[in-house]
Amino acid sequence: MRRRCRSARPCVALSGRFSQLAKLKGPFEELFRVTGLDEKARALAEVAEEVARCRKCRLWSSRTNPVPGYGNQDADVMFVGEAPGYNEDLEGKPFVGAAGKFLDQLLGLAGLRRSEVFIANVLKCRPPGNRDPLPDEVEACGPYLDRQISTIRPKLVVCLGRYSASYVLSRGGVRVRSRAGGTSISAVRGQVFKVRFNGLEFLAMPTYHPAAGLYNPKLKDKLMEGFLSIGRVLRGIKEGSIPI
Ligand code: URA
Ligand code: SF4
Repeated sequence: MRRRCRSARPCVALSGRFSQLAKLKGPFEELFRVTGLDEKARALAEVAEEVARCRKCRLWSSRTNPVPGYGNQDADVMFVGEAPGYNEDLEGKPFVGAAGKFLDQLLGLAGLRRSEVFIANVLKCRPPGNRDPLPDEVEACGPYLDRQISTIRPKLVVCLGRYSASYVLSRGGVRVRSRAGGTSISAVRGQVFKVRFNGLEFLAMPTYHPAAGLYNPKLKDKLMEGFLSIGRVLRGIKEGSIPI
């Protein structure tokens, strides 16, 4: 039997037509019967609902709100960050702080608007003090991202930063070279990887994390170049010159 969502704000991170769900209380089957949401919306809302009551790792206890992800369920492009920060934790939406504002500018360079894309993180709850994700947290939370990717079926997944690159590329069996115990984002940044995973095929492009560009002008330039290149790859996919 399905359990009811016990979150105080169950649908805070759900957009547009999902927000109707927040007003209705009851088992999901009933909510979908009433709202008439389709399979994709249903699958994404189920992930959000499970995230809202998840206790699979320690991070549930220190979060204010879960941040399951937000955006267009029919997106050709998904952006995957690391984990919610201070503002995301307060608002329940990904990339709403300073890094998010910069991400909006970067999206523009790729010819994209936020309303066209889906944005999620590897971890759905904020690590205290914005510390790095721990391996057991990534292992516990990753399956939610897997389900979001499997549902949305994007053509391109842009990995924002090393944790995202490491996780998403690992889905396709690509191991990102490790340096000093961490993942070297500079080794993979700007490359286009073909990922086959769970019966899906998509391209993955790792970039630096937008937050890194906020304080480092060199990385900012590289991020801007990276997003121009994302725009070119997207056009290539649409025109058929870049096969998936
Ligand atoms: N950084 C991330 O990786 N994700 C967010 O949602 C915000 C900042
Ligand atoms: Fe669950 Fe992920 Fe939050 Fe950990 S970070 S409690 S696995 S939703």
